[in-house]
Amino acid sequence: MIVHVLPDPDAVGSLAARLIEAELLDIAAPVLGVATGSTPEPVYAHLTRRRERGTFRTDRLRAFALDEYVGLAAGHAESYRSVLERGFAAPLGVPAERLHVPSWEADDPAAASDAYEREILLAGGIDLQVLGIGRNGHIGFNEPGSDFRSLTRVVPLTESTRAANARFFEEPADVPTLSISQGLATIMRARAIALIATGADKADAIRAALTGPVDTGMPASILQRHPRLRVFLDGAAASRLDLTLLATFAVVHDWREAAR
Ligand code: F6R
Repeated sequence: MIVHVLPDPDAVGSLAARLIEAELLDIAAPVLGVATGSTPEPVYAHLTRRRERGTFRTDRLRAFALDEYVGLAAGHAESYRSVLERGFAAPLGVPAERLHVPSWEADDPAAASDAYEREILLAGGIDLQVLGIGRNGHIGFNEPGSDFRSLTRVVPLTESTRAANARFFEEPADVPTLSISQGLATIMRARAIALIATGADKADAIRAALTGPVDTGMPASILQRHPRLRVFLDGAAASRLDLTLLATFAVVHDWREAAR
């Protein structure tokens, strides 16, 4: 595990984008796993800048979403397909056919989940998965208690996750109750993972995920077992981490001093 601690979310986005570009550089048709939510926005903004400068190429990039709500009307502005089209695919020049999102339009979300898992395999697997983390330690919509062996499947959303996502909807009751999410085993199959967290409200989850026991009560803790995990944190998200303890088993790069 390599943990980068940076001064602010923009610096997190900048370094993460630089390292994502480097990771995908020598892959002919790279497969990038993309998270939605607020955290990766600076990462996608910096990737967009790097594309405009000509260093980050997306002409053969394929992207796979982590998850999708079940039950929103087609084209709903808050469906993850719409969110990723606006915030990732359009600015990065990735056409709709190379942006894969679990298809909740199918009548049978369980079959759609299996089909999505197969789609990822047929694409050759995910080269690099970008992840955010929930305040309760969820990754994708794998809530506490999710099986570490889980594959893409239909997942009910917890009330805490629905409350956290209510900010994107007119009424809290409009937040869907179900999602299709890559499973924890699906995520762990990615060849490399970039976990991003910013803000003090993620500090407890980050401490438990990186330095606590590997336990299904803290889904993100399984990432400790990934052979190629990079973590990008701002100072607030890192504020409850014991960096000395972390440095006994991880490489810790504290960029805050360098940035001063
Ligand atoms: C997003 C996802 C979620 C978010 C997490 C953090 O596709 O699956 O796990 O990464 O809820 O969300 P933000 O970044 O909005 O705090």
